[in-house]
Amino acid sequence: MPHTESSALLKHDGLSLGYAPMDQLHEEFIGLVEALAQAPDHAVAAALDALALNAHEHFDAEDRWMNESAFPARACHIDEHAAVMGSIAGVRRRVSSGDFAAARRLADALVEWFPGHADYLDSALAHWMCKRRLGGTPVVVHRRMQAPVAVPSH
Ligand SMILES: [Fe+2]
Ligand SMILES: [Fe+2]
Repeated sequence: MPHTESSALLKHDGLSLGYAPMDQLHEEFIGLVEALAQAPDHAVAAALDALALNAHEHFDAEDRWMNESAFPARACHIDEHAAVMGSIAGVRRRVSSGDFAAARRLADALVEWFPGHADYLDSALAHWMCKRRLGGTPVVVHRRMQAPVAVPSH
């Protein structure tokens, strides 16, 4: 099944928020989401395991940066990470009982979710971390603009 949405995700500026450790985590995350979306049935479980491990490291790092630096209003961002990890855990259970389509629906949902999360939550954290550690705001070269995405309501 073709997944053009994930190609669009790869081009999203969320890959370039200007804080290198986060940009690296996002590049890995997006690659693993795309791998899951394209995995044949026999490879779905391994692709989902790899994504779950990466998502845990990715979200844990951001949660740690927010907590260690007393980032304001971090609860909403941390809650969103926890909700995604809960979804991933639920899909792992479904895949273990042979529901491979659930993993592809998860990949599609993450493709839809990530740009808004990056634009409204990760970008604020990247800006904060650059200001704290480097004494300046991140320098970001935007490749293209996308239509605004609704801010998650929390
Ligand atoms: Fe992130
Ligand atoms: Fe995040």
